Amino acid sequence: MSSTSRLDRLLANLGYGARREVQQMVRAGAVTLDGAPLAQPDMRLAVTSDLQLRLHVGGAPLDPLPGMALMLHKPLGVTCSHKEAGELVYDLLPARWRARDPALSTIGRLDKETSGLLLLTDDGALLHKVISPKRHVPKRYLATLAHPLQGEEGVRFASGELMLEGEDKPLAPATLEPLSPTTAWLTVTEGRYHQVRRMFAAVGNHVEALHRDRIGALNLPEHLPPGAYRLMDEGQIAALFEART
Ligand code: URA
Repeated sequence: MSSTSRLDRLLANLGYGARREVQQMVRAGAVTLDGAPLAQPDMRLAVTSDLQLRLHVGGAPLDPLPGMALMLHKPLGVTCSHKEAGELVYDLLPARWRARDPALSTIGRLDKETSGLLLLTDDGALLHKVISPKRHVPKRYLATLAHPLQGEEGVRFASGELMLEGEDKPLAPATLEPLSPTTAWLTVTEGRYHQVRRMFAAVGNHVEALHRDRIGALNLPEHLPPGAYRLMDEGQIAALFEART
């Protein structure tokens, strides 16, 4: 976005209300900069990172500026969608964030019955950089299986020749690290539909539970409980592109 913005536009785009509503908030003195009320809704402000601390709305610091990225510990049973029935990942975030423009979206998806590290951003360039197959960003999953591993699955996953049912292009090589007869880490660099579940189905097994704990070199923080989220800093964003496999 540009380095300056009209105050009313900035607030409306952050989801504080329609343009007229935020204009009224400003005129009512609810928006302060360095503690002093701002009077003119159409004033231009330099949109710098310190604005988030200096600008207060209704006494609270401004929401994150556009260009935000979040890591969320996705619980089981919630859906990565803007509009499906049932609980959505967006329901775990502040209600105002749903009205942001540019909108917050998940970076890729996890199935309703998969838990773990899920990223969200309003930065389209970042989103595409993470999901682009060309970048080969590794994603690590902990799979709990219905049947014991047979021993040859790792070779098949690593071969670059495994075909998923209904597809005509083989999967890129993936890395299997067995932990026990029925649990394993699987690291993939693509994001095909239900990829991990379908990979195990392709070798005659069945995934009973699935959890993602790492993207690039970014781990799901140990102290982030299911349903909780955290803003990402620049170092954490950079870690997504540091391969760890
Ligand atoms: N692969 C799957 O099968 N499900 C997910 O949620 C993620 C990867």
